[in-house]
Amino acid sequence: MSDPTPRARPLIWVNCAISIDGRLAFARGTRARLSGPQDLARVQRLRAESDAIVVGSGTVALDDPSLAVHWEAIGRTVGRPPTRIVLDSKGSLPEGARVFDGSSPTLVATLESNRRTYPPYVERLVVGSDRVDLARLWGILYERGMRRILVEGGARVIASVVASRTFDRLTVYVAPVLIGQETSPPMVAGPAARGFEELARLRLLGVERLDDGYVASYEPSLP
Ligand SMILES: NC(=O)c1ccc[n+]([C@@H]2O[C@H](COP(=O)([O-])OP(=O)(O)OC[C@H]3O[C@@H](n4cnc5c(N)ncnc54)[C@H](OP(=O)(O)O)[C@@H]3O)[C@@H](O)[C@H]2O)c1
Repeated sequence: MSDPTPRARPLIWVNCAISIDGRLAFARGTRARLSGPQDLARVQRLRAESDAIVVGSGTVALDDPSLAVHWEAIGRTVGRPPTRIVLDSKGSLPEGARVFDGSSPTLVATLESNRRTYPPYVERLVVGSDRVDLARLWGILYERGMRRILVEGGARVIASVVASRTFDRLTVYVAPVLIGQETSPPMVAGPAARGFEELARLRLLGVERLDDGYVASYEPSLP
């Protein structure tokens, strides 16, 4: 897919799986495998077609994802793995996290104040002063030749991407389950709109039935 934006940043594609009541995970953030095989294959294809995959430190702490592409599962020959990018302002990532296994290029986007050292094969990129600055990060990745970035979560990272209005696609797999809300993370953990004028408006591009649920695709709707 070509980049539809004239801006000097990659195409930013946000993808997640939620329950009908808009939850990303179980109580206290315990990972919920909401996708079935068809949706998992869709996500693998998205990963395979991306230059990088972005997650927040919360997702690494709670889910410990590998962010790997399982090429064989999608019937493709092994290609260049997307760079794993973790937003970690304070250096709180667990030592033994799978993103530190050295199996794919890995970059930690952080702040100068984070003095933590990472394994030698992990790139440390300072971007921002009090929070990882997403617009600047996208610009740097674009300068490096990256044209498509997949943002996989979690709740606070999706909130930041939505708030920065720097995304081009949102795909949401909705599983036919209800989780409840007391301590389970919502899809977007950021300040709520105080009125219609603050809504992030999207345009529905399509809906496809997958497994027992459906995936809906959106693009931002320009004001
Ligand atoms: N269902 C799905 O598709 C899916 C996918 C992914 C995750 N999840 C779920 O999401 C939950 C984790 O979400 P979360 O909100 O706790 O964590 P998160 O969004 O993964 O990470 C948030 C953390 O990233 C760091 N960060 C640095 N710069 C940031 C920026 N500009 N914007 C936002 N965050 C930034 C901050 O921590 P520091 O200040 O320490 O840097 C922040 O607290 C888990 O329960 C996981 O299972 C679900």
